[in-house]
Amino acid sequence: MLYCEEMKDRLTKWHAAYIQNAYQELKRGATRKQLDTLNIDATGKRVLDVGCGPGNLLAALSADAPELLIGVDVDEIFLVCGRSQIQNSTEKQSPVTSYQLPVKKEPSSLETGNWPLVTDKAVPTLLRASLPTLPFADETFDLVTCLLVMPHVPDDSAALTELARVLKPGGTLAISGHGFGFPLRYLKRFRLKPLQMYLASLIYKWTGKKWIRNTLQNDRKICDFLDSIGVVPEMYHYNQKILGCVVTYWIKAIKSDTNPKATQ
Ligand SMILES: C[S@@+](CC[C@H](N)C(=O)[O-])C[C@H]1O[C@@H](n2cnc3c(N)ncnc32)[C@H](O)[C@@H]1O
Repeated sequence: MLYCEEMKDRLTKWHAAYIQNAYQELKRGATRKQLDTLNIDATGKRVLDVGCGPGNLLAALSADAPELLIGVDVDEIFLVCGRSQIQNSTEKQSPVTSYQLPVKKEPSSLETGNWPLVTDKAVPTLLRASLPTLPFADETFDLVTCLLVMPHVPDDSAALTELARVLKPGGTLAISGHGFGFPLRYLKRFRLKPLQMYLASLIYKWTGKKWIRNTLQNDRKICDFLDSIGVVPEMYHYNQKILGCVVTYWIKAIKSDTNPKATQ
């Protein structure tokens, strides 16, 4: 894996601003507050954060001393440049025991070459992987988080099914994403972008295909789909509404002990 120095020319302004903002939120305690809102505690658990970005959620989760803490993201720049920030935020934590991670048998669609499969520090392990193909065995994790990633994945159902697959029965899934109120926040600053997002959402609704990455979602549909694969929504929260439309939704769901569809 390359170091941040070598990534400098690939680090966009957007990446730099996102990383800075993420770690400011962590410092202010906003990240912990998000977890508390959904009543999430990672103590002693095997935890996976999918679409971890620069890893601010991982840093917050590491304070609970989970048994295992893994973050995956498709964006190598976030993984590399977030790493040193995570280390700074977690270096005072005590080490967890070394752990051999069960991996999925079939090869992943992304390169699997240098992934560390043994963790031996409180510092989370970061891997490059992409939904809907996670390189882990079925029923590996007690807690899977996937915050603000659903708007970016091409196929919601495939992504949610994969998240459910790696979750143990009785395990917790926490997801969040953007609802139809989200673009309204940006009307002043970006003008055409909110309109573009609405159009993309309509096309998604009619065709089932995501046109651009920021396609908005119907959070109720996501709850219904989770329910249909045996991951039962337990808590639903939205942080804000504009003109009656949800800006950001958060869902906590529990994988049922019995429904085999959740591991298909
Ligand atoms: C808006 S950021 C959210 C980051 C972090 N979860 C947070 O709450 O701050 C979306 C993240 O999802 C990642 N992402 C997008 N598509 C993905 C995919 N198919 N699989 C894994 N990660 C993905 C992006 O690289 C980015 O880091």
